[in-house]
Amino acid sequence: MRQFYALFLLLVISHTGWSQSIAVATAHPIGTQVARQVLEAGGNAYDAAVAAHFALAVVLPRAGNIGGGGFALIHTFGGEARALDFRETAPQAATRETFMVSGENIPPSSLRSIQASGVPGSVAGMWELYTAYRSGRFTWAELLQPAILLADTGFAMTPFLADLLLHTPHIAEQEGSPFYRQVPWQAGDRLTQHVLAQTLTDIAAMGPEGFYQGLHAARLVDWSQGWFTPEDIGLYRAVWRAPLSMVYRGYNLYTMPPPSSGGVALIQLLKGSDRPANRFGKRWKGEAIHDFTELAHRVYQDRTYYLGDPDYMEVVPGALMDDGYLANRFADIEQDRHVPIAWNQSHTELESNETTHFSILDSAGNAIAITTTLNGLFGSGLWVDGYFMNNEMDDFATQPGVPNQFGLIGYEVNSVAPGKRMLSSMTPTILVDGSGNKVVLGTPGGSTIITNVFQVVLHHVRYQKTLEEAVHIKKVHAQGLPEKLFYEVGALTPRWQKKLKALGHPLEAWKQIGRFQAVSSFEAVADVTRSGDSQGYFYSDGVKSKRK
Ligand code: GLY
Repeated sequence: MRQFYALFLLLVISHTGWSQSIAVATAHPIGTQVARQVLEAGGNAYDAAVAAHFALAVVLPRAGNIGGGGFALIHTFGGEARALDFRETAPQAATRETFMVSGENIPPSSLRSIQASGVPGSVAGMWELYTAYRSGRFTWAELLQPAILLADTGFAMTPFLADLLLHTPHIAEQEGSPFYRQVPWQAGDRLTQHVLAQTLTDIAAMGPEGFYQGLHAARLVDWSQGWFTPEDIGLYRAVWRAPLSMVYRGYNLYTMPPPSSGGVALIQLLKGSDRPANRFGKRWKGEAIHDFTELAHRVYQDRTYYLGDPDYMEVVPGALMDDGYLANRFADIEQDRHVPIAWNQSHTELESNETTHFSILDSAGNAIAITTTLNGLFGSGLWVDGYFMNNEMDDFATQPGVPNQFGLIGYEVNSVAPGKRMLSSMTPTILVDGSGNKVVLGTPGGSTIITNVFQVVLHHVRYQKTLEEAVHIKKVHAQGLPEKLFYEVGALTPRWQKKLKALGHPLEAWKQIGRFQAVSSFEAVADVTRSGDSQGYFYSDGVKSKRK
């Protein structure tokens, strides 16, 4: 009998890739610590994700949130893959014309106004995750407890947050909010957020009703001056969706479907890079970067033409990822020169954005990748009931044909409509190899998210780099419009720059592209080459490694 159990256990282990490791990477040491403590106390990856999400809403106010939304990609111990969509929705008052200039009418800003916000989805998303996948070792209230304590008793500000507040006067000078200070914040100063602690306490006690109904919903409705009705807020629902998937070089890859454009675009790029006509070869070099740029211009054009809230899409994702379609789509790429693709639009400068990503893998092999956002830095910058509201309405094609803050233009499929979800680039992604080993990843970066995820997957899987090397590689980016090849300082050697210019690519250097948080069955990698407080934690068979 004992032999039977041993055999059974062996079969389970070999089937699922079960290992003793836990791995966490978030954009803040406290977020990482909270997730780690839940895992070490016997919670699963999904318990840890709920606790980390709420903790990040406190310690990472620029992007962590309860006033925003996001996506989660999960792959369970048993092999189930699912995508959770807790993207914000447009309220009933929103119309195609809300942000359009017409005649003398000056529309509200889609970045800095009450109308910049969609109905927040994060609380509903975390509740869905908790109810569907909790381990049972923690109650909902227990998972919110670290966040409540951090908000109520405060935490020491990191140099990064203190410096950020110095450079965002619209946040630090907003009277009434806990960020208001007449003298500049310093690293080490304690930030307490009592109003947020109370809102979180009510959510802990009542579940999503504590946010979407009753006192806190009423406060949001009052604050919004007619933009949100109680029904807009009360009827918000997170949605489970089937992830997009492909087999990529020995891995099953799962990624986010619409309303993210990320999954479709990632799969298009990966399939495009595997075409014999392209020259991605065995390492990243000038020819590969030329081919990548030409692929990316086309992929982002498809994003613009076809992708949006799936309820409004006329083209199904499968058609855009079809091998025959892609063979045609990429057939006109030339190897010896850059040929601009036809767009009849102008563009504005790209701006930074402050989404955040975290990745968790538990010892049973449950994985979760969450990308969550307020859209811009501190969202709309408007603080209500303890938290910042998102400015996600700018991710709609607010004026079809005119670019948003990332320089991306959009078409009717992504125009504003009541109840609709705005198109996103967030690309939480999980790869699983034949032995059940997992890679869990994602990044902030607005429109650059997709090309970033592509490059990390490419370097880790195709070029056989460690996850750490792949994350830290300097990145490049192209998105159709503006019609440029952007590169992170250090990404292109002088020789490559010369070569790419000679091929006709307009080059533009950026200080930073992306800020990854990735884990695998063997590593936890927080992005140390770029600014921020990210921290990874990995534990396996008695070997601990903590990477800042
Ligand atoms: N707000 C950034 C995104 O959803 O892609």
